[in-house]
Amino acid sequence: MRLKKYTYLTALLFLIASFSFAQKNEYNIIPAPLNLKPSKGIFIFNEATSLQLGKGVSPEVENAFFILKDRLNTAAGLMITANNTARSKNVIICRQNNSLEKKESYILNITPAKIEIEAREPAGFFYAAQTLRQLLPVTIESKDLVSNIKWSVPCCRIEDSPVFSYRGLHLDVCRNFASLDEVKTYIDQIALLKLNIFHWHLTDDQGWRIEIRKYPKLTEMGAFRDRTMKGHHNDYPRQWDNTRTGGYYTQEEIKEVIAYAAERFVTIIPEIEMPGHATAALASYPEYSCSGGPFEVEGRWGVFNDVFCTREETFDFLEDVLDEVAGLFPSEYIHIGGDECPKVRWKRCHACQERMKEEGLKDEHELQSYFVRRMEKYLKGKGKKIIGWDEILEGGLAPDATVMSWRGIAGGIAAARQGNDVIMTPSEAMYFDFYQSRLPSQPLAIGGYVPLEKVYAYKAMPDELTEDQYKHILGIQANVWTEYMPTRAQREYMIFPRVAALAEVAWLPEAKKNYKRFSSDIPSLMQRYSYMGLNYSDAFYSIIGNTVPDKETGLKLELSTSAPGMQIRYTVDGTEPTIESPLYTGGIPVSDKEIVVKAISLKDGKIMSPPYNQTFIVNKAAGQQIIFEDAQGNISGQNGGGNLTDCIMGKFPLGRFDWFSYAGSDATVTIVFDKPKTISELIFSSANQNNVYVYSPRNIEFFISEDGGTFRSIGNVKHEQMAAADGKAEVTTSPLTVKKVKMAISMYGVVPKDKIGAGNPSALFVDEIIVR
Ligand code: ACM
Ligand code: ZN
Repeated sequence: MRLKKYTYLTALLFLIASFSFAQKNEYNIIPAPLNLKPSKGIFIFNEATSLQLGKGVSPEVENAFFILKDRLNTAAGLMITANNTARSKNVIICRQNNSLEKKESYILNITPAKIEIEAREPAGFFYAAQTLRQLLPVTIESKDLVSNIKWSVPCCRIEDSPVFSYRGLHLDVCRNFASLDEVKTYIDQIALLKLNIFHWHLTDDQGWRIEIRKYPKLTEMGAFRDRTMKGHHNDYPRQWDNTRTGGYYTQEEIKEVIAYAAERFVTIIPEIEMPGHATAALASYPEYSCSGGPFEVEGRWGVFNDVFCTREETFDFLEDVLDEVAGLFPSEYIHIGGDECPKVRWKRCHACQERMKEEGLKDEHELQSYFVRRMEKYLKGKGKKIIGWDEILEGGLAPDATVMSWRGIAGGIAAARQGNDVIMTPSEAMYFDFYQSRLPSQPLAIGGYVPLEKVYAYKAMPDELTEDQYKHILGIQANVWTEYMPTRAQREYMIFPRVAALAEVAWLPEAKKNYKRFSSDIPSLMQRYSYMGLNYSDAFYSIIGNTVPDKETGLKLELSTSAPGMQIRYTVDGTEPTIESPLYTGGIPVSDKEIVVKAISLKDGKIMSPPYNQTFIVNKAAGQQIIFEDAQGNISGQNGGGNLTDCIMGKFPLGRFDWFSYAGSDATVTIVFDKPKTISELIFSSANQNNVYVYSPRNIEFFISEDGGTFRSIGNVKHEQMAAADGKAEVTTSPLTVKKVKMAISMYGVVPKDKIGAGNPSALFVDEIIVR
């Protein structure tokens, strides 16, 4: 209903626009073309518009226009047919241009009389057609015939070509199964934004999704689970949904999807996980585990100890599986996983220990490396290359493996330096299972914080590499892990419109990126999504609040939105904001201990944002430089430490973005003040949620530095005191003027016998460092 009304309204608006105003050309193309020269006038599509393939252009090029033709047919009622009688008006002319650099490159020249397209290969013509589609009114995406619209595209000359050859989007269909129809829609969206890789994550602990004819139990048993955990991984006590769930794709269905993708110039890379994330396979064939099982298909999220055993029979099995996978998928790459493989079973398995002795492997990391190398060699014999997650670097990288760098970019940098190819997909920018807004109203997600701007700001070519090593960065990819996305609507919510930022980072060189221009193109993409019936996120319009140091007032609060040109109105007195509340015009000075900010964003007088309501614990650490460092000097933690001084206290469950999580060795956290500060109170606020093995540190010692070089201890707090104070450690002192403060963290370590989670490593969760 809503969509119909919208269609009508938009149609009316277009009608008014085309009658009342002179045409002002707009070019809302995502990814933005490399070069676009606007010009005056428009080209109008009508019943007589035809497609003409120039001399030397292969007849298959007509296929590159099938989506555009289908849209014009469905939404506009126009049949565009190929017609090779030479015409110079009302025609789309395709010309072969072998001088273009890449297979995707194209030139598109739109004048009122004709549209000329030059490309070297069908992919280039296909991308030119996607550009034309985006230049048409957004109603071109309508599923029904729309009347009273001028089907025009603005005149311009575009020369376009991508920076990366690998432009990928991933989908995990194991944690939650996606129907064939959803997968095809996904591929449609990949193609619309000129992405070209669909990484299909087909096997994991919670489900095996691809029919393997030689091993029918993989799908008979492995594709279904009896129960699924509810809520967040860190919730306690564990609650269950006892609905049996699952699904799989037959080989015939997979062939259908591969063909569907190929028509859209999308390559599918299948992922068959090994040696870890194998519970669904082991539930079906426990003989390929170290212990022999039995196992059930997992209903919990996480990392599990039972993995493929390295005995010969397992390799026979996996080679049989890969025979069928390699036979189905034309892709030159097969992804063999390799991430998150615990070594505990291998350590205690006779067969695995024998294997290590025989092969002269010094530890279980080398055993994992042996596993991956063996698979690489086997697949090489079938003309295939492997991709693995960055853990495949541990124990020695297989010679020709391509590394997918997900735990930050360090793995990618190391692999490129070794001369191996790399796909960058660091979680801090490329994980679409992370929150895209900090509003408490967001649906439950795994954790982290990756708003649209952060995806867009991602710089795929790391400064650490040399010009020569850059050639190993094949491209980038965003990952959609679906633990917390049980429905199609929720998956769409997490993907759209962040995928647009991915597409632009994958297509444009860094120097051409421009968030202001990009964000002004987003509303029209959202309108397209509405016509397509996709559930996109409105986080774009939500308020983002940040505390920042201020020269005059000490501290101020900045409010913004991902969307450009929004009006923000706010209150700090606890009342609900309205369109009459004070207009935000710059930083809000703050001086109290605590400030509650409520805000709304508006566009043309209409409220666009969900309500914003955030309490800030105002203190001197806000916005200061913070260094979280382990004993080896590694700066680590899930999200870099920045959220330790954002003045926002953590909420439960623990996975949410407010928390800084860490599970390494003893560490220090240092705050470097921009100028000397007089302080009298230091607080280290952690979580002590033993149910999920989260323990406050064994001890925290507090130090100050007056000269910025030498430190002096001003007190320490033991675990028991923190446990009694909800995880808080606090010291006070008579006022001191300091340049730095430091907290030395002794980690709680392995959980002792008498505590919950005995024998497991504990984790540290910190929400905030407070300085007063
Ligand atoms: C991963 O996110 N475990 C690759
Ligand atoms: Zn074993």
